Amino acid sequence: MFNAQLVDSFKGKETPFYYYDLKLLKDTLMACKEASVSHHFHIHFALKANFNDRVLQLIKDAGLGADCVSGGEVKKAIETGFDAKKVVFAGVGKSDREINYALDNDIFCFNVESIQELEVINELAAKKGKKASVAIRVNPNVDAHTHHYITTGLDENKFGINAWELSDVAETLKKCSHLEFLGIHFHVGSQITDMNVFKSLCVKVNEVQSWFEERGMPVKVLNVGGGLGVDYHHPDENAIADFNSYFQIFKDFLEIKSYQEVHFELGRALVAQCSSLITSVLYVKHGIKKNFAIVDAGMTELMRPALYQAYHKIENISRQLDNSDIKNQESKIINYDVVGPICESSDCFGKEVTLPETKRGDLIALRTAGAYGEVMASAYNLRPDIRHVYTEA
Ligand code: LLP
Repeated sequence: MFNAQLVDSFKGKETPFYYYDLKLLKDTLMACKEASVSHHFHIHFALKANFNDRVLQLIKDAGLGADCVSGGEVKKAIETGFDAKKVVFAGVGKSDREINYALDNDIFCFNVESIQELEVINELAAKKGKKASVAIRVNPNVDAHTHHYITTGLDENKFGINAWELSDVAETLKKCSHLEFLGIHFHVGSQITDMNVFKSLCVKVNEVQSWFEERGMPVKVLNVGGGLGVDYHHPDENAIADFNSYFQIFKDFLEIKSYQEVHFELGRALVAQCSSLITSVLYVKHGIKKNFAIVDAGMTELMRPALYQAYHKIENISRQLDNSDIKNQESKIINYDVVGPICESSDCFGKEVTLPETKRGDLIALRTAGAYGEVMASAYNLRPDIRHVYTEA
């Protein structure tokens, strides 16, 4: 929410920048903790969604673990101070170097995505005289009903091991004396808003855990991944995701045994709403059919619209204040294509966006940019480094 005082504090700051509302982040973390603690669920934050130092520090302080998908993320988590015993390392293509780094740091668990990877981890652990804990990522063939680029749990996706390979997995695990089988791991996709998807996931998790247990292989960890979606259309009304309903589904539908831990890897739902990309209007062009508001941020700072046609709410936060009662001021409402300065036609944040009449110098907020925002930035067109502004109260 951008009140007059906040927008005033942005004056004179060089744009574009990522604005972080750290109070909202703390409130979100608290809501997540409160909703999960009574169920004894363990939450790992998916660093891939955001690895801003201030953000990670707060997440670590809140007691969450870290879900990493590269050696770089494992290193970042350890350097931030996450307890190595709360660090998991997932990813379909872990290099020997990355595996060795994680072994040296005695992380909690590798989420393993192929039989060959099991053999490699076993070999590398043997060389160090260590035992690596592993969870098997199973591809559950559950449709996440989300954007096809961020669906991960279908047979056609590259992630995880297919159910029909489980016998080979069990045999490999028995042969590999430097591996300890800890549990099973799933992740069906991201930005999931249909809670039935998670119910279907629970059914699969139950099937797979029974499969292992029937073969005398106790499953100590059920890792159900992340994926809880957020409301990109109403960032103020739904600033904090409905963690209670989400966790309740797993409580109701998972068959959880007394010796089992349930782990989650949430990214987006924890960080998306606490940040907006703030950009200035450089130029306004009025065409015959279209009006363009050309802003100083581009797909280099926020790639999601260009890459996935993702929606981010766009607000003119300068005008919204002057015209808190727009009607009285008879301010014009105009539709703009809000576009960036990058030399690509896909460098567009929104088409036909309804805004109060917009002028050079106005500040525009691209909302819900805290997840997969600055982490996906690039230096294409030799763009400057990302800048930040934070508020804590
Ligand atoms: N666990 C695994 C194995 C994952 O692959 C992911 C996300 C997560 C957890 C966290 O999912 P979340 O709770 O954030 O939905 N760049 C895309 C999203 C890619 C998601 C990749 N995996 C976007 O901007 O929408």
